[in-house]
Amino acid sequence: MTAKKGQAVQAIRGMNDLLPADSGRWRALESTMAEVFHRHGYQQIRTPIVEKTALFARSIGADTDIVSKEMYTFEDRNGTSLTLRPEGTASCVRAGIEHGLLYNQQSRLWYIGPMFRHERPQKGRYRQFHQAGVECFGWDTPDIEAEVIALVVQLFDALGLKDYRLELNSLGDTASRAAYRTSLQTYFRSVEDQLDEDSLRRLDSNPLRILDSKNPDLREVINGAPTILDALSDDSKAHFEELQFYLDELNIDYVVSPTMVRGLDYYNDTVFEFICDDFGAQATVCGGGRYDGLVTSLGGPATPAFGFGLGLERLVQILEEQGAELKDEDSNSVFIVSDHGPCRATALRIRQSLAANGIRCLMAMGQAGFKNQFKRADKSGALLAIVIGEEEFANGQVQIKFLNKPDENIVAAAPDLIKQALSDGEQQFAIALESAVEQVTNLMISL
Ligand code: HAM
Repeated sequence: MTAKKGQAVQAIRGMNDLLPADSGRWRALESTMAEVFHRHGYQQIRTPIVEKTALFARSIGADTDIVSKEMYTFEDRNGTSLTLRPEGTASCVRAGIEHGLLYNQQSRLWYIGPMFRHERPQKGRYRQFHQAGVECFGWDTPDIEAEVIALVVQLFDALGLKDYRLELNSLGDTASRAAYRTSLQTYFRSVEDQLDEDSLRRLDSNPLRILDSKNPDLREVINGAPTILDALSDDSKAHFEELQFYLDELNIDYVVSPTMVRGLDYYNDTVFEFICDDFGAQATVCGGGRYDGLVTSLGGPATPAFGFGLGLERLVQILEEQGAELKDEDSNSVFIVSDHGPCRATALRIRQSLAANGIRCLMAMGQAGFKNQFKRADKSGALLAIVIGEEEFANGQVQIKFLNKPDENIVAAAPDLIKQALSDGEQQFAIALESAVEQVTNLMISL
């Protein structure tokens, strides 16, 4: 279908624009995340948004909702089946195998980017959404799991997220899951008449998937199912207990949730979710777990792995609802108001210098007069204006006009700080601006 000429073409349902009014908050969120990942020794990986369909079909599992009904799959011009990535783990594993990152190595990776799932859009659920995630390769012990979970807690603390709950479960090793599968099949067969079509289909192929059904009518039947915890092998039980010991030592609260299976098939042993109940139906903000079999199933060397994915739209919305302030770094800035001609040239030069020294610097271009430029300066949220009019220019000066009630000390220190920023790259000016609060004053300084 083609839109008529002159008719507006709209965005795809469930795929959102991030508008300028919100992008400062996202930038703050993303830089906090990058900082926390970096501080824990994680390195960023960027993989393509499109992969061969087989990658996701083989890793996430044919019976999952993602693979059976939510993937954006299409043929490219060569007839190859491609898919917009619905998650980041499979791509990390593919890249790790392809570039030899997993042979006899241990690595901590992180990523951020858009993911695509053809789900029914609603609050907190979109068709293009963003995940930040980490994947750790090469450790089969629960200490790495405690590290990763503690990292999420530290990130939430840094962002000011409150009222979340950490749920844990163990899906056991291969032997535990085989035993559990049989007992689940026996149970669900006994209540077969209460199951829906999806669950009946999964009864033979993948009964664990029934536990992850989104159909509310099945809640009671699912709650009555035997739990995996009773089927755990001694090794899996000890592994899960050791993780809980570490979390206790770290003072991280959690609840064990024996019916949590997660929506992807690659997990074994530990799985976890962070949930903010107040947010409504799409309350899981972060989910992850161990996937020791995935690397070999995609053709790589036997490599234990553990990681998580965190939904950024949900996180931003929950933080907003909770009133947490995602500090917009953009507010810490300077606005240059200038006349045209030689004054504008000086303004451009000053802006280059300030920006090169880490100070965000705005200015109005074109023919706007001083009144109009000051209006824009006020509206921009900048802390001060640097004014270069004909008169100042003739005297080799600029005027500093504080826009947002700065502190007396800042006012006194501003001329020197600006000069320093202009000459030798001092960062103090930016720091001083950050703490500017009271009293409005104008100052003249000589350049
Ligand atoms: P997931 O549970 O499918 O796990 O997704 C992780 C998070 O992404 C969810 O908790 C949610 O916050 C967000 N999310 C998922 N679907 C949507 C959607 N349609 N709209 C908005 N947000 C969404 C994974 O993707 C695994 N790769 C996590 C992982 C990494 N496990 C091990 N390593």
